[in-house]
Amino acid sequence: MRTQQGTPIRRDAYQPLAYQVETVDLDFVLDPKATVVSNRMRCVRNPQAAAGPVVLYGEALVCLSVRIDGAAPADGQVRTVEGGLEIDVDADVVVLEIVTRIDPSANLTLSGLYQSRGGYYTQCEAEGFRRITYFPDRPDVMARYTVRLEADAATCPVLLSNGNLLETGTLPGGRHFARWEDPFPKPSYLFALVAADLKALERKVCTMSGREVLLQVWVEARDLDRVGHAMDSLVHSLRWDEEVFGLELDLDRFMIVAVSDFNMGAMENKGLNIFNTKYVLANPDTGTDLDFENVESVVAHEYFHNWTGNRVTCRDWFQLTLKEGLTVFRDQQFTADMMARASDTPAAAASARAVTRIANVRGLRSGQFPEDAGPMAHPIRPDSYQEINNFYTATVYQKGAEVIRMLLTLLGTEGFRNGMDLYFSYHDGQAVTCDDFVGCMAEANGADLDLFMGWYSQAGTPRLKAVGHYDAASRSYALTLSQHTPPTAGQPDKQALHIPVAVGLIGPDGADLPLQLEGEVRSAGTTRVLELKETSRTWRFSGIEAEPVPSILRGFSAPVILEVDEDDARLAFRMAHDSDPFNCWDAAQRYMERVVLALAADAAAGRRLEVPQAFGHAFRALLVNDRLDPGFVAETLALPSETYLLERMQPADPAPLRAALIHVSRELGQALQADLLTRYMDLEVEGEYRYHPADAGRRSLRNLCLRYMMAWGGPTAVQLASLQFRTAGNMTERYGALAALVQSDAPERIEALAAFHERYRDDALVLDKWFQLQAGAWHWSASAPSTLEQVRALMGNPAFSLSNPNKVYALLGGYFKANAAEFHREDGAGYAFWAEQVIALNRSNPQVASRMARALEGWRKFTPEIQVRIRAALETVAAEEGLSPDVAEIVGKALA
Ligand code: TRP
Ligand code: ZN
Repeated sequence: MRTQQGTPIRRDAYQPLAYQVETVDLDFVLDPKATVVSNRMRCVRNPQAAAGPVVLYGEALVCLSVRIDGAAPADGQVRTVEGGLEIDVDADVVVLEIVTRIDPSANLTLSGLYQSRGGYYTQCEAEGFRRITYFPDRPDVMARYTVRLEADAATCPVLLSNGNLLETGTLPGGRHFARWEDPFPKPSYLFALVAADLKALERKVCTMSGREVLLQVWVEARDLDRVGHAMDSLVHSLRWDEEVFGLELDLDRFMIVAVSDFNMGAMENKGLNIFNTKYVLANPDTGTDLDFENVESVVAHEYFHNWTGNRVTCRDWFQLTLKEGLTVFRDQQFTADMMARASDTPAAAASARAVTRIANVRGLRSGQFPEDAGPMAHPIRPDSYQEINNFYTATVYQKGAEVIRMLLTLLGTEGFRNGMDLYFSYHDGQAVTCDDFVGCMAEANGADLDLFMGWYSQAGTPRLKAVGHYDAASRSYALTLSQHTPPTAGQPDKQALHIPVAVGLIGPDGADLPLQLEGEVRSAGTTRVLELKETSRTWRFSGIEAEPVPSILRGFSAPVILEVDEDDARLAFRMAHDSDPFNCWDAAQRYMERVVLALAADAAAGRRLEVPQAFGHAFRALLVNDRLDPGFVAETLALPSETYLLERMQPADPAPLRAALIHVSRELGQALQADLLTRYMDLEVEGEYRYHPADAGRRSLRNLCLRYMMAWGGPTAVQLASLQFRTAGNMTERYGALAALVQSDAPERIEALAAFHERYRDDALVLDKWFQLQAGAWHWSASAPSTLEQVRALMGNPAFSLSNPNKVYALLGGYFKANAAEFHREDGAGYAFWAEQVIALNRSNPQVASRMARALEGWRKFTPEIQVRIRAALETVAAEEGLSPDVAEIVGKALA
């Protein structure tokens, strides 16, 4: 049933199963080492499928008994095959009863049923249910579930599963039980149970149709003072989905449970979302503004899955972006709306929306673009995979969301909503494909989206080239757009895609020009969406009095790399005048990228580093502009991420890039010291902390000013940072000060790190910040300690554990993925350490190991000398015995 390990599973090999499951009754007798799971399934022949046995997947299970329609199986009727069981059945309907035993305490993979801090939790997506019981564990098998669970009443007073609570009761021997029923058919990946010592914050709300529903957020008792924001976020999400999409909560009870050992962010199990504590818990003393934002968006994301993912689910895992791209898009829109709604003026609202969009695009450029340029490049709907867990990627999620956003751009708000309505009317209760989704968008709008489907099948980031030509005689401006996608692994030839390109033209006075295309009778609007469908096409704008400056790809209307020939002066002009806030930000990013990469080339060649004066001026103009929203200014003045710059540098060379980044930061810190200080003083936020875009924006710019001041150095900066650290009234300010101090080698650095540790020594989530900051620390002066030695030492801290994913992501992830210059140190010690840790993690938690392994997949972009060293490390891991399919796929593809 399962293909040989190492052989990819192919999308075009999809076959429906011969038998589906109609109902399943599960009984769990929970015990740390020997949990017994009794599973009674009513299996029904699928008339649409070819004949065959009942196929049940199973992994790490001890089979205790199998009964078929109440009787023992005949000889040879049940076959053990690789990956599970096959059962021969003649009847159209059969009842299977299977009893298995599992060991949750030994399950460090955090997939299936496992223990965390004494409680029991499940994680079934993508293929974890088969680690709980034998089952046709595929998303196209949708069944109705009842669940009975029993456990020790003292250690696990709370017993939860999907749907509605039917019954609870006590049992002899200090045990108790609960019975749950989920009225909605669901795929097995949405099953969940929790048995733990938890307390709930509860709220009752009315849905749009007037039904009262119970909302609960379950956490450990000591964390109850940090769940208010998650609850508020849940209520806001519920309202938003009603208002924007007309989608109502379909259950009487909706639960969120927080667990500290969790591989990902959160999971949308039907009616029982399970969350990493990181995305539930936040109060002003422990969470930064970013944490508050993340909690809000992850709560929304999982809640939105109830319709996009659960009510309509995926036919197979190749369709993952059907639910993930769409749900990320929905949570991004929600966040933008929430930010705008909280703003006090229309201008502030527009800024807040832009800040949200900028953050999305920053994430795409530093997370997805490198993926698309490396050995893991895949279309948002992959054609094959070896391990599905490796395909919960930035491409499927973030680029997938951009593809949905392009549909919105092409079809308009109303057309998009009509497409969504049609999608639910056709496919509610079904497991479907991306073609079904785009088909509804096309049908509802009478649109031809055939070419658009290329976004689902083609990997790689398209290059969009824009060339303009002004003709004074005819007062017309010709804009030629051309596209080209470089080859990716396994996809040498690329087709032209359907790309919506939002374009504006800026006049010499900085104002947008009204746009009239050749052949139109009058002008309309100042931003137009041009639909590029061919390799190259020219548009002509008429009535243009003087040569304009084009503003291309406004709002980042497509996930492409824009290539346009702009000199420094034009970038500075757009920084000052582009009416599209996204493009204004982007102009600043392009300018910074150009300056930093030029300096990096100088550093590599041993030349003197000099920051162009004009750059300092453009930077200062933004810094002192107090009519602009501070949050927006902060985004605009923050340097592009090192990861993104490495992607743009050819060949990538982390050491000179870091030297350039340090140099630019120092020069700006010096040249603008007076302005930075003034801004820093003016931006202080008075009064009680509130999570609000205006306050968050001020704190963000203020902390950025502090970091630039610290980069230049001097006693004032250290004093200011220390003072802010000691007097901060909330985590955003405290953490901002610590992040600045970590850049210095003053004694205050050590003092602040120690004080922070002391204050939060029992607080796992806050300590993650402490680990992460040190792992990501830059080596600003020769006397600073080596980061690798620090990271090794921190692994010995009692609060660190390789079996807790958050700790691994903070410390090891912080070093491997957010500190290029230190990780890629010349002696190769970073790579040896990487290999050692990937191998260690591979034994306990393959999903986490694979995520760490991915830190080196982009190795071919580096200089030849660096490549030699990385290859050695990759080969060490590849040669390891007992490599999980997760890690094997990553290093295999990297070395291929
Ligand atoms: N479906 C989850 C989400 O997007 C992702 C997820 C949570 C997941 N846990 C997982 C994926 C474990 C794979 C493995 O919201
Ligand atoms: Zn999701």
